[in-house]
Amino acid sequence: INVDWDAVTAEKGGFAHFMLKEIHEQPRAYRDTMLGRIDESGRRIILPDLHLTDEKIRSINNVHIVACGTAFHAGLVGGAVIERLVRIPVMCDVASEYRYRSPLITPDTLVIVVSQSGETADTLAALREAQANGAHVLAITNVVGSSIARDADDVISTLAGPEIAVASTKAYTSQLIAFYLFSLYLAQVRGTQSAEEIAHVIAAMHALPEQVESILANVDAIKAYAEHIAKHEDLFFIGRGLDYAVALEGSLKLKEISYIHSEAYAAGELKHGTLALIEEDVPVIALATQESVLEKTVSNIKEVKARGADVMALTHEEHVTDLLKSVDQAFAIPKTLPILTPALSVVPLQLLAYYASLARGNDVDKPRNLAKSVTVE
Ligand code: G6P
Repeated sequence: INVDWDAVTAEKGGFAHFMLKEIHEQPRAYRDTMLGRIDESGRRIILPDLHLTDEKIRSINNVHIVACGTAFHAGLVGGAVIERLVRIPVMCDVASEYRYRSPLITPDTLVIVVSQSGETADTLAALREAQANGAHVLAITNVVGSSIARDADDVISTLAGPEIAVASTKAYTSQLIAFYLFSLYLAQVRGTQSAEEIAHVIAAMHALPEQVESILANVDAIKAYAEHIAKHEDLFFIGRGLDYAVALEGSLKLKEISYIHSEAYAAGELKHGTLALIEEDVPVIALATQESVLEKTVSNIKEVKARGADVMALTHEEHVTDLLKSVDQAFAIPKTLPILTPALSVVPLQLLAYYASLARGNDVDKPRNLAKSVTVE
């Protein structure tokens, strides 16, 4: 038999690029990251390897989340979720800033560092700075035995499996899952959410893998939209709350591999400057999944529309008809709880970056000037 596959093609498992393969591995990565961390009744989180005692968890009075790049964006979602479920103040920072600004760390600060590789130099230095100031450091990493995993006081491993493409996809979403699990665990120990509420979130988490599969089964519209934006040089993402955090990641993904300039803006900040850049036909991607601020986001959409923007909205099915009165096109993602939405809404944005990069003839898996792991300062 003559097989004309080389080893790399074989590793891609039939996908054209590692990035596409890794996007498709997300349902499996979600399941693996949850496995063994939810008890059989589906009502409680169990993190058996954690050294953090319940007493220590009750004494935490603030949380710092520190990371770089995509991992930082996962941290922004995680921070918002911890604040919402546990009501502890959370500060998120990029490691290259945090480590040099003498952050206010006390023994009651819990520092969470997030790193796919576990080797990023700035994140590792931030971890050491935190430990030197007496903080307990929890690492969320994808590589067992990495420097960050070894040095941290506690580790929650994401079970995304090896990520080869420079643009991070399944590692980011697995970091989200790790944050959901840990936030629920904190809420359980501190009693800030009822057993019913915790079970409710867990049930919704169990539905996520299939919901991602349903997004991945219908990529034609997002592919066509990617080919449309591939002709542009500037683009804007807007959103509020968790939609803003996901907008930042969507924008980074697009920049990294398509080289299209894009900016993510908190929708309410538009009028403080960025609105000046909106002109006829500028694509604006509006994330509108967070019901509590939906009306506000819609009024921002109208502001950019009035200046000629070409608006695409990402929302839940039930809002599509309404939103289509104000936008040029809309994509629906399956319904989940507001806090879990990032684990779904980021997937079409990953695909968008992938297909835009492809349309521009770029090297999807190895974008210019970027490295998978940044071990130098
Ligand atoms: C590099 C990669 C990014 C990644 C960042 C942090 O810039 O290209 O994809 O998000 O480093 O990496 P880490 O391994 O710490 O998550």
